[in-house]
Amino acid sequence: MPLIFSMVCTSWMNAGKMNLEKRMVTLKGSTWSSVRATVAPAFSTAKIRQMIPTLNESSQICVKILKDYAKKGEKVPIRETMVRVMLDMTSKAAFGRDFNVQHDEQSTFIDYAKKYAEFDFRSPRIVAITLFPNLCWVFKKLTGYSILNNETNRYFVEILDHLYENRIDNKENYDYKDFFQLMLSAMKEEDKNREIDREIEFEITGKSEKSSKGIKKQHIFGQAFMFILAGFETGPINLHLTVYMLAMHEEWQERVRNEIESVLNGKEPDYVSLAELPLLEQCIHETQRLFPAVVRLNRMCTKPVELNGILMPKGSVFSIPVYNIHHSEKFYENPEEFRPERWSPEEKAKRDPLTFLPFGHGPRNCIGMRVGQFQMRSVLVHLLRHFRLTIADGSPKTLPLEIDTRGSFRTVSPLYINVETI
Ligand code: HEM
Repeated sequence: MPLIFSMVCTSWMNAGKMNLEKRMVTLKGSTWSSVRATVAPAFSTAKIRQMIPTLNESSQICVKILKDYAKKGEKVPIRETMVRVMLDMTSKAAFGRDFNVQHDEQSTFIDYAKKYAEFDFRSPRIVAITLFPNLCWVFKKLTGYSILNNETNRYFVEILDHLYENRIDNKENYDYKDFFQLMLSAMKEEDKNREIDREIEFEITGKSEKSSKGIKKQHIFGQAFMFILAGFETGPINLHLTVYMLAMHEEWQERVRNEIESVLNGKEPDYVSLAELPLLEQCIHETQRLFPAVVRLNRMCTKPVELNGILMPKGSVFSIPVYNIHHSEKFYENPEEFRPERWSPEEKAKRDPLTFLPFGHGPRNCIGMRVGQFQMRSVLVHLLRHFRLTIADGSPKTLPLEIDTRGSFRTVSPLYINVETI
């Protein structure tokens, strides 16, 4: 398995021609490495430290909203609420913009972000793109369809275009510190990373990336959009299910709440205290094991490789079944049970790290992993300090949860919790 992640490391997807499709996850070869290297500093410890007040501010807004639910005695739609708090954090940290997504019930921003998530893996369009990734562009030419919905694409391109036009000249000479600005500054720099990439010459699109010249406008848009997607999909999937698992397992909820109080001692969380919550981390890990936001990882051979005596030719595509690995009896005893004790340092040390892949692995692992972890911790710390969480009537009170496998990871019925102010 390590070989798959390290040597066979190109993405199997094809970047399209529309701006938002130049996301890192779809790029290959030297274009991918130059974009990844440019974006990496946005995820450094220093940058994450700077982000913490913004994350806490969004969590505080969420607490206020939940206090209203508690006062009215209404049950909370937990996924929707966690989507809103994470998108709030993401848009502020990435673009320095407040789209008011937590308060605005009719938010257009949320409506369009939802449209992205609502694709069905069994639709002919998605099946075709999955089976013949290298033919994406032919498919689009023939049908006019992109994997991204055109109307939604236009909405986000317009927002990003507006931001771009305002920032590119920076007439006010304001020192923006967000992700978007970092990418803009990189675009203005001379590209020093123009080496020829022979690894992807096999591409049957006939379009090699030899002419790539560092960061371009469509790369900035693609990466900015990746932030939106992470704020809408992967992050909230993990976050709302962790909240739900804590509501379901009240003894763990109490233990984590006590840990938070002893570490924070009444203070607002900062980078150091958020990093020091081992029981909370165990609960998040166990939720990510049970419900990995990305159920399958894909890799394509960039050169012939021998794996367990089988020769894989260049261009072979691999799927790594994350969900099945996480639920295998071979690695986890009683895998359907929520047992955060599996993640104590002693238990963790007994296990192969490659049996736990919520953020992928290798050179193409999730670049936003630490941002995602700090976002989740900030929200969970705020919620547990202010509320006792229980499962609302009508929502499942035991595991396993029924999962809808058609699109991205979601439960068949929406999950609701009750919040009681402490
Ligand atoms: C809890 C939150 C998150 C989860 C569970 C998650 C999960 C993942 C996974 C499983 C992958 C594929 C890794 C692989 O193939 O080995 C990935 C890739 C990626 N993620 Fe995340 N992610 C999260 C948050 C974020 C955030 C906040 C960002 C910020 C922009 C982000 C940006 C990316 C990017 C750019 C890639 C592609 C990396 C590449 O191809 O080099 N993710 N993520």
